[in-house]
Amino acid sequence: MKLQNQVLDILQNACDYRSGEQIAQQLRVSRNSVWKAINTLKKHGYIIDAVRNKGYRLSAQSDVISPQAILPLLRSDGLTWSIQHLSNVGSTNDTIRQLAEQCAPEGTVIIAEEQTKGKGRMNRTFYSPKHAGIYMSLLLRPKIPLQQATFITTAAAVAAAQAIQSVTGAKVGIKWVNDLYYNNKKICGILTEAAIDIESGGLRYAILGIGINISPPQDGFPENLRTIAGSLLQQPGTNNIRVKIIAAFLNRFGSYYSHLSDKTFMPEYRARSIVLGKQVQVLLKDGPKPALVTDIDDHANLHVQYADGSNQVLASGEISIRLGEF
Ligand code: BTN
Repeated sequence: MKLQNQVLDILQNACDYRSGEQIAQQLRVSRNSVWKAINTLKKHGYIIDAVRNKGYRLSAQSDVISPQAILPLLRSDGLTWSIQHLSNVGSTNDTIRQLAEQCAPEGTVIIAEEQTKGKGRMNRTFYSPKHAGIYMSLLLRPKIPLQQATFITTAAAVAAAQAIQSVTGAKVGIKWVNDLYYNNKKICGILTEAAIDIESGGLRYAILGIGINISPPQDGFPENLRTIAGSLLQQPGTNNIRVKIIAAFLNRFGSYYSHLSDKTFMPEYRARSIVLGKQVQVLLKDGPKPALVTDIDDHANLHVQYADGSNQVLASGEISIRLGEF
């Protein structure tokens, strides 16, 4: 492990200041090497308080993603996660697909600080500005029939809502199919992509991509997103909030994923639904049609009733809805 990462480990696990001498002794290096490692960490964006006669402490202002900050927070009873953090990619889903094709193992995770071609559902883009969010893709190799692939997304939506709430206390709702809403704004989207094994009709692999808007983008959201998109916080993140949310998400998602067909996440999915029992607009080819949402079944299909009393079951991925009144 690089010296700066070893120093970071010590600072992350310390409850108080650690002197340069203590760190140097622990790592069996010179104080000058510790000082250089601290400077390297500062260049990478870590905010480190340095106080004469006390030493160094990772500032509570820091919100820097690193695999070595996430790994100690992960539970060891589920999937083994192998995490890479990249500063800038087109799309983490595309990056991980290349790794999947090179036989990367299940549990590979790519997290980017910024995406220049972030992808959303239905060929939309996902705005992914620097330092403002969590842009993450997970490589999964599930041994499930194709029809159960939607469970991955549903489980991820629940895991993300629970992770955010456990770290920040924010009560996050789920808008069918898998958008997370907070204060009436979308703060998270999920895009699951799959490669199918033609012979067996099963999945060769699935890529679970999740984007969470943590803090407001430096220049605000682009005009076309302003009424829809929001962020979890109203100021820049502090206190490793992104690291904590990532770890909480991986822990929760990992445990749902290991028993996916049990669908233990569905009661929570319904409880967090912001459309169940509400009036919505079903976006049909010939325009929006008002409907009442009467149920969400175990396959995350939406059951709606139109004003004329007719009913329809909407499959996820085929149709969109808009929140709205008759
Ligand atoms: C949506 O809201 O339509 C889905 C958005 C999914 C965004 C995430 S960010 C990480 C991963 N990489 C991508 O290009 N997209 C997903």
